Amino acid sequence: MSYEQEYSASINNPESFWADKARQLDWFTFPKTILGKDENGIDRWFVDGEMNTCHMALDANLAAGRGDQVAIYYDSPVTDTKQTITYAELTERVARFAGALQQQGVEKGDRVLIYMPMIPEAVVAMLACARLGAIHSVVFGGFAAHELAVRIDDAHPKVIVSASCGVEVSKVIEYKPLVDAAIEQATHKPAHCIVFQRPQVQATLIAGRDLDWNTAVAAAPLADCTPVLATDPLYVLYTSGTTGKPKGVVRDNGSHAVAMRYSMKAIYNMDPGDTFWAASDVGWVVGHSYIVYAPLLSGLSTVLYEGKPVRTPDAAAFWRVAEEYKVKGLFSAPTAFRAIKKEDPNAEGIKRHDLSSLETIFMAGERLDPPTYDWVRDITGLPVVDHWWQTETGWGICANLMGIDPKPCKPGSATLPSPGFDVRILDDNGNEVGPNEQGNVAIKLPLPPSCLPSIWGNHARFLAGYLEQFPGYYTSGDGGYKDEEGYVFIMGRTDDVINVAGHRLSTGEMEEVLAGHPAVAECAVIGIADDLKGQVPIGLVLLKDGVDIESDALNQELVARIRQDIGAVACLKNTLIAQRLPKTRSGKILRKLLRQIANGESYSIPSTIDDPASIPEIEVLLREKELVTG
Ligand code: COA
Ligand code: AMP
Repeated sequence: MSYEQEYSASINNPESFWADKARQLDWFTFPKTILGKDENGIDRWFVDGEMNTCHMALDANLAAGRGDQVAIYYDSPVTDTKQTITYAELTERVARFAGALQQQGVEKGDRVLIYMPMIPEAVVAMLACARLGAIHSVVFGGFAAHELAVRIDDAHPKVIVSASCGVEVSKVIEYKPLVDAAIEQATHKPAHCIVFQRPQVQATLIAGRDLDWNTAVAAAPLADCTPVLATDPLYVLYTSGTTGKPKGVVRDNGSHAVAMRYSMKAIYNMDPGDTFWAASDVGWVVGHSYIVYAPLLSGLSTVLYEGKPVRTPDAAAFWRVAEEYKVKGLFSAPTAFRAIKKEDPNAEGIKRHDLSSLETIFMAGERLDPPTYDWVRDITGLPVVDHWWQTETGWGICANLMGIDPKPCKPGSATLPSPGFDVRILDDNGNEVGPNEQGNVAIKLPLPPSCLPSIWGNHARFLAGYLEQFPGYYTSGDGGYKDEEGYVFIMGRTDDVINVAGHRLSTGEMEEVLAGHPAVAECAVIGIADDLKGQVPIGLVLLKDGVDIESDALNQELVARIRQDIGAVACLKNTLIAQRLPKTRSGKILRKLLRQIANGESYSIPSTIDDPASIPEIEVLLREKELVTG
C-alpha cells in the first residue's frame, strides 16, 4: 500500500477505512454506526460500539497469549530502581487498584484526578479508571498547587490519586503538601485521596480523607471491566489555551483506541512484542498516547523512564536505555536532543552503546529545527521523523508513515498529513492559499478518530476556540505552509500559547499571575527563542503610579510568583519594567509586535497603534538586557 492510496482511502471513504481499523480491537459490541453526530451536531465515531479500553489494552493481550510478555519496563535512574512488569502482572495490579477505587465509591463517569510522578502506579491508576469507565485527569507533576486547584474545580474529581513525592535530578519534590494546598484552595472537595508512599518521603495522611495506596489495595477485590459506549470519555487532559483557564480536552474511549492502535503501526512501524519508548511524561498527551495506551493496545512493551536526557547521570542516558530494553522506536522532544548535544557535542556517549535494535527516532512537541535534525541523524545514522500533533488530536496530524510507506524527510517539515486529516492552509478570510504561502493550518471536517469532541464542561469554548473561525474546519492555532509536494511545515503558534522545553504553556495565564502582584498595573508575557528550550517566556510590566521598587527585587518576586502559582516548568526568569507598552487605540496590547521585536524579526507597525514611540523604547529595553534574539 502506498501513502497516496492509504491517505485517499481515509479521505474518500472514511467510514469503511476506520471500520476496517476498528476490527483490529476486541469490542464487546462492534459498532454498526461508524460515523454519526451527537446532540451538539459534532461528528462522533463508532457511536453505538460497546467496549472497554482497559479490556482492549490488557485482558485482550492475556487472551492473545501475551501474559508473560513484558508490558512495562520501569527505569528510574533518579531513584536507582528498575522493574519489569508483565501483562499478567499489570492486569492483576490494575484490576486490584480498580477494586480499591470502587471501594472509595468510584463508578462509571466519575472523575479521578491523578497527580503522580513517572512511576508504574501512575499507569496502574490510569488503566484502573479506564477499567471502571471512570474518567481520569492526569496533572503533570511539575504544576504547582494553584494549577491543581483550577483543575479540581473544573473536573470535580471524586478521588485524587497521588504519591508522596516526585524525584527530580538533584531534589525530591513533596507532592502531598501541594495536593493538600490545592484542595484547600479549591471549592470542590474530593471525597478521598489515595497516596502511594515512596521510600524518599512519607506523606502525612489526613484521617478520614486520605488512604495509603498499599492499604487500599490489600483490602480490595479484583474489579472487572465495565462496558462503556465508544463515545463515553476515557479521560480529560488539561492543556493551555489563550486565557488563564486551561482547557479540559475530552477524549472518547472508542475512537481513541482505534487511532492509537492504527498509528502505532502506521506511523511508528511497531509490531506486537516490540519495545517502544516515548521519553515524555504521563502528564502530557504524548505520555497518555505513547507511553500508556497505544503500546498496550498494540501488545508492545513500553518503557516508563523516570529521568532526564542529561544529568541522570549523563548525556548517554537515552542510548543506555535504548540498548538495555532493545528499543525499536524512540520518541522525544527536540529539546531533549538539544540538551544531549549541548553536553556531548561529539556524541561520545553513543559510541559506548549497541543501538542495533533502534530503527527510528521520532520527535514532536515543538518545531524540529534543522540543525538538531541533522545532528541526530548524523550521530545515529537513523531516520529522524518529525511529526506534528496536539493534545486536542492525541496523535500525529502530519507524519511520515514509517509502517506503510516511508517518504524522504525534509528538514523543518512534519512530512505529510496522516490518514484521516485533511490539512488545508487558509488565509485569514478562510480561502485556501497556494504552495509555499504561509497561513492558518486548519483541518477540514470531519476530524478522524481520537480528536476532541468538546471541552470538558464548556462546549461553547470548544466551538469558539476551534470550529467557528473557519466554518467547516478545525482551526489548529498553528501557522505554516505546504510546499509543492504537499509537505507541511509548521512554523509556530498564531496565538498566545508558547512551547517551553516541549511543554505547552499559556502566556495569558502567566500574565494573570504577574498582574496579581500589588506593584503591577499591566503586563505582557511573550515567548522568545531559546537555544535549549525552544522558547522561554519573558514579562514586560508597567508599574502602578507611585510604586517605587527596584527592578531586580520586583523580578525576584514575580519569578517566585510564577513558580508558586504555575510551577517551575514555566521557566520565567526575566521580567522588565517598561514605561509603556505598544497598544491599539482600543487598548489591546500588541503582543505579536512585541514577539517580533524580541525575536529580531522584521515587523510592520499596525495603523491602529496608539503610541508609536513605545516601540523604540521597548526595543532599547530588550536590547539592554540582551533579550533580543534572532
Ligand atoms: N515535577 C516537578 N518539577 C518538575 C518536573 C516534574 N515532573 N519537571 C520539571 N520540573 C522542574 C524542574 O525541576 C526545574 O526546576 P528548577 O527550575 O527548580 O530547576 C523546572 O521544572 C524546569 O524543568 P525542565 O523543563 O525539565 O528543565 P531542565 O533545565 O531541568 O531540563 C531538559 C531541560 C531539556 C533536559 C528537559 O526540559 C527535558 O527533558 N525536556 C523534554 C521534555 C519532554 O519530554 N516533553 C514532552 C514532549 S514529547
Ligand atoms: P501539545 O498540545 O502540548 O502537544 O502542543 C501542541 C503544540 O505544539 C502544537 O500546536 C504546535 O504548536 C507544537 N508542536 C507539536 N509538535 C510540533 C512539530 N512537530 N512541529 C512544530 N510544532 C509542533
